[in-house]
Amino acid sequence: MASHCPNSTTPFSFFIFLMLFSSFIITINAEKINSTGSFWASAKEEGEVDDSHLINDSQENELDGGFSSLEGMLQWAIGHSDPSKLKEAAQDNQRLSSEEVHKKQIELKELMGKLKMPSDAELMQIAIDDLNNESLSLEDRHRALQELLILVEPIDNAKDLNKLGGLKAVIRQLDHSDTNIRATSAWIIGKASQNNPIVQKQVLEIGALVKLMKLVQSNLTEEAIKALYAVSALIRNNVDGQELFCAEDGNMLLQDILSNSSIDIRLKKKSLFLVADLAESQLENTDKLQLPFLADQLFLKLVVDVLVATDLDLQEKALYSIKSLLLLKSTDALILKNFCKLDAALEKMRLQLELLMADENHREYAIDLESLRREVEENYFRKLDKVMQVPT
Ligand SMILES: *[C@@H]1O[C@H](CO)[C@@H](O)[C@H](O)[C@H]1NC(C)=O
Ligand SMILES: *[C@@H]1O[C@H](CO)[C@@H](O)[C@H](O)[C@H]1NC(C)=O
Ligand SMILES: *[C@@H]1O[C@H](CO)[C@@H](O)[C@H](O)[C@H]1NC(C)=O
Ligand SMILES: *[C@@H]1O[C@H](CO)[C@@H](O)[C@H](O)[C@H]1NC(C)=O
Repeated sequence: MASHCPNSTTPFSFFIFLMLFSSFIITINAEKINSTGSFWASAKEEGEVDDSHLINDSQENELDGGFSSLEGMLQWAIGHSDPSKLKEAAQDNQRLSSEEVHKKQIELKELMGKLKMPSDAELMQIAIDDLNNESLSLEDRHRALQELLILVEPIDNAKDLNKLGGLKAVIRQLDHSDTNIRATSAWIIGKASQNNPIVQKQVLEIGALVKLMKLVQSNLTEEAIKALYAVSALIRNNVDGQELFCAEDGNMLLQDILSNSSIDIRLKKKSLFLVADLAESQLENTDKLQLPFLADQLFLKLVVDVLVATDLDLQEKALYSIKSLLLLKSTDALILKNFCKLDAALEKMRLQLELLMADENHREYAIDLESLRREVEENYFRKLDKVMQVPT
C-alpha cells in the first residue's frame, strides 16, 4: 500500500474523534451511568482492557439503534455536531436505555480502535516496505522517502531504522536513476546519522560512505549538496569514518570543490565546515587519527584562497577553517606564509572589512568578522614566530 500520509490523515481522524467524543459526553451526561468508569479506562488503554462485561448480548449490536457501519456512525456524529441537533440528541439520549448506551459505548470504542494512530515504527515500516516494492511509482517512492525524512528526526526513530531494514532500503536508493530519489535518500542518511554514533557505525558498515562521496561529485547541485551533508554527518566525530574518508581520497573531493569557480557556494561552505570539523577531530585524536592531507600545501592554499573570495559568508567559513587548522602541530606556518600567501590574504580581507564598516548596513557584521580575522592573524603570527626564531 502506498497511500498513507500522516500529515493529511491525522487532523481528519482527530476531527471525527472530537465530534464523536462530544456526542458521547452528552450520552453519558444524559444517562449518568459513568460510575464504573469502565469506558474511560478501556479507552485510555486503546482497547487493551478486557471489556466483556460491557457486552450484554453481542446480537444486540445488530439491532436498530446501533450503528451497523462506520459510515452510519460518522453520519450520526456529524449530524449531532450541530449545536441545536446536539441539544436534541441529548434529549433523545435521555430516552436511551442503559443497554442502548452500552451499545454506543462499544461502537465508539471500536471506532476509536480503527482511528488509532499508527506508531512511528509502524509508519516507518510502511514506508520501508514501499521502498522495497520494485513496482512502486516514482511519485510514491519519493513520498515514502519524504515520510522517512520526517520520521527519522527523533533520535530513537533513527536508531530503529536499521532494525526495520530501513537503512539498507534507503542506501539502495542511492543507486536509483532519478536524482531526486538519490538526493532525498542521502538527506535521510545524513539526518539519521547526525550526532548519532550508532547510526553512523551502521551506515559505515553497510558501505554507504563511498557511494555518498561519489554523489558529491554529481553535476546536479541539490544532489551534491545533500550528499555532502550526509558525508559530513556520517564522519563527524567519527574516527573510523574520517579515516575511510581520507583513504577514499576525500582530500581530492574537497579540493575539487574548493578549486572550482563554477561550483555552488553552498557546497563550498559545507566543505569548509567539514575541514574545520576534521581539523578539530585531528586535534582531539592525535594518537589515533591520521589525516595527513590537512597539512598538504595545495589543500591549504585552496582554503586560504577562499579568504579573498567575493562572498563574505564564505570568507567567514574559511577563517573558521584556518583557525582550526592553525591549532594543528602538522600545519606548517612557513607553508602558509610562503606557498599560501596567508599574510597577503589576511591583509586584503582587513582592507575589505574596513570599507565595509563605513557602510551602516553592514557595520556590525564587518566588526564581528574583523575580530575573527584578527584572532586568526594573531594565532598565525604566533605560530610563525615560533618557527622563525633562529636557535642560538
Ligand atoms: C443483559 O441485560 C438485561 C436487561 O438489560 C439484564 O436483565 C441481563 O442480566 C443482562 N445480562 C448480562 C449478562 O449482563
Ligand atoms: C507495489 O506497488 C504497486 C504499485 O503501487 C502496488 O500495486 C502493489 O500492491 C505493491 N505491492 C506490495 C507488495 O505492496
Ligand atoms: C566544476 O563544476 C561544474 C559544476 O558542477 C562541473 O560541471 C565542472 O566539470 C567542474 N569543473 C572541473 C574542472 O571539475
Ligand atoms: C551531468 O552529467 C551527466 C553525465 O554524468 C550528463 O549527461 C549531463 O548532461 C550533465 N548535466 C549537466 C547539467 O551538466
